[in-house]
Amino acid sequence: MFNKLIKRMADSSSENREPLLSVSSEEIPAHIAIIMDGNGRWAKKRSLPRIAGHHEGMKTVRRITRLASDLGVSVLTLYAFSTENWKRPKMEVDFLMRLPEEFLSTFLPELIEENVRVEMMGYHDNLPSHTLEAVRKAKEATKNNTGLVLNFALNYGSRSEIVDAVKDIAAQVAAGTLDIASISEDHISERLMTKGLPEPDLLIRTSGEVRLSNFMLWQLAYTEFWFTETLWPDFNEDSLLEAIENYKKRNRRYGGLKGEEAN
Ligand code: FPP
Repeated sequence: MFNKLIKRMADSSSENREPLLSVSSEEIPAHIAIIMDGNGRWAKKRSLPRIAGHHEGMKTVRRITRLASDLGVSVLTLYAFSTENWKRPKMEVDFLMRLPEEFLSTFLPELIEENVRVEMMGYHDNLPSHTLEAVRKAKEATKNNTGLVLNFALNYGSRSEIVDAVKDIAAQVAAGTLDIASISEDHISERLMTKGLPEPDLLIRTSGEVRLSNFMLWQLAYTEFWFTETLWPDFNEDSLLEAIENYKKRNRRYGGLKGEEAN
C-alpha cells in the first residue's frame, strides 16, 4: 500500500507530498462515511446551474476514492442520494440519477485496476433502471476485488431502514420463531443495509451544515464526526488528510474510560 502511495506522491506536485507522509497505517479509520454537501452552493458561487456542482462533485468522488484506497481505508460510504432528495426539481433528480452511470462508465477500469469493490446501499424501488443497471454491472465487475469497498448510499434513508428491520423482527416474533427477551442490538444491525460492514469510524460532512440528515443513524452511534466548511467540489486530498489527522487525536472511549482514568 505504501509503495503505491509513494509512487503517487512522486507523481504528484511537491505541494501534495508533505501531508501524505504524515498519516501512518495504524491510524487510518477503517470505515469513512461522507455526507457530500455543498454542490449547489459551489455552482451558485460561479453562476453555474446546480447540476454543474453535482458534476464537479462527481470528480471529487474519484479523487477521494483514490486516496482512501491508497491509504488502506476498508470502506468508503458516500451519501449520493437520500430518500428525501426526490423532492428536488425533476431535472436535478434526473441528472443525479445519471451520475453513477457517468462515473462508472468513466472510472470503472481504474477502480478495477485499484482493486476497489463497488457496492450500493439503498432502496431499489424508484431508482431508474439505467442507474440500477450501471451499479449492477460495476458490482459484478468488481465483486472479487479485495481492496477498498466503495459503498454508494443511493436512495438511502436511515429511519426507513430501521423501520424495516423492526418489522422483520416483529414478523419473526409473531411467527413464534423469535423470543422477545432474546432481541439484541445485533438483531437490528444484521437487518440493516450495512450488514457485514464495520460501523463507520469517521463521519465527514462538508459545506458547514451540522446535521445527519437521516444518514446511518444507528451505525453512527460511536463514530467520530468531522464537519468542515469546505464545499464538496472543493474537498480534496488535503481535506481528507486533515480530517484523518484530527481523527487520530480523538480519544475514543465508547462510553467507558481510557488509560490512567480507567485505573
Ligand atoms: C448535496 O449537495 C449533494 C447531493 C444531494 C448529491 C451528491 C452527489 C454527488 C456529490 C455526486 C455523486 C457522484 C456519484 C458518482 C454517484 P446540495 O446540492 O444539497 O448542495 P447545496 O446544499 O449547496 O445546495
